[in-house]
Amino acid sequence: MDSLKPKIAIIGAGNVGSTFAFSLMISGLAREIVLIDKNESLAIGECMDLNHGLSFAHSTKIYAAGYEGCENADIVVITAGANQKPDETRTDLINKNVAIFKDIVPAITKFTKDAILLVVTNPVDILTYVTLKLSGFPSNRVIGSGTVLDTARLKYMISDYAKVDPNNIHAYIIGEHGDTELPLWSNATIGGMDIETYCSEYAKLGNAKNDLKEIFQDVKDSAYKIIKLKGATNYSIALSLVKITRAIIRDENSILPVSTLINNYYGVSDVCISIPSIININGLEQYIRLDLSAEELELFIHSADTLKNFIKEIELE
Ligand code: 2OP
Repeated sequence: MDSLKPKIAIIGAGNVGSTFAFSLMISGLAREIVLIDKNESLAIGECMDLNHGLSFAHSTKIYAAGYEGCENADIVVITAGANQKPDETRTDLINKNVAIFKDIVPAITKFTKDAILLVVTNPVDILTYVTLKLSGFPSNRVIGSGTVLDTARLKYMISDYAKVDPNNIHAYIIGEHGDTELPLWSNATIGGMDIETYCSEYAKLGNAKNDLKEIFQDVKDSAYKIIKLKGATNYSIALSLVKITRAIIRDENSILPVSTLINNYYGVSDVCISIPSIININGLEQYIRLDLSAEELELFIHSADTLKNFIKEIELE
């Protein structure tokens, strides 16, 4: 990676792709942003609009292109595909989006063999696995946005509940980015203190155990609620992508619950799923083997099995 001129290619100029391009332009992280969409007019229009705001942001080259735009990209972010509609689950999109990825991934790898592929399209864990297989890239360079967003939602809601800065909360959601995800309460802390103890002793909240359960349920239902209200989610996922992108470009060794291929994680292998992972210029440096409670382990294995059962049905030939 040429860290002086980071180049990010974004596949898909829809809600998520274009909001990510906007957030990235404001962040000043990239020197070059290329937007690629099968609807060329959409990509050109978004780039014109973004460029017209450049004098208020950082110097960045922003343009629309075909897949040749992936050449020399440090990161290719895949946001293209069918979106979740109200009352659809993420996994309802499997067939449509796997078919789309069978076109997209070879088109990308025709122009780059070195980039890190960051998958965002849902169901993200399954499409990360599909991207890994279709690209033939090493597993450290194929990453799904996973439960980074769910974890941010959890921190926001806990911070609102306990009236504490979200940056002082350490808590992760792991597993599928979807209905079988789980919170790791056994490892969750506020200011270095067990989260329930903090809530009762410092925030003076009497029913933290139950309230935290409800907060997690709200986190899990967030996308469903937002999609019902405004049709899609875009801002928070875009900012999650900026965080992951920054961790890569700046070689941060940031610990993020991204979706990657795991090998014998509590006996689970051959599935892409989120667990806290060290992210740097190599993409995935390594994932972290946290101690899980017996209940968390059972839920994690259930989540992985659910994803594996979907993967079994997919034909990639
Ligand atoms: C989200 O969680 C829909 O997966 C998307 O916002």
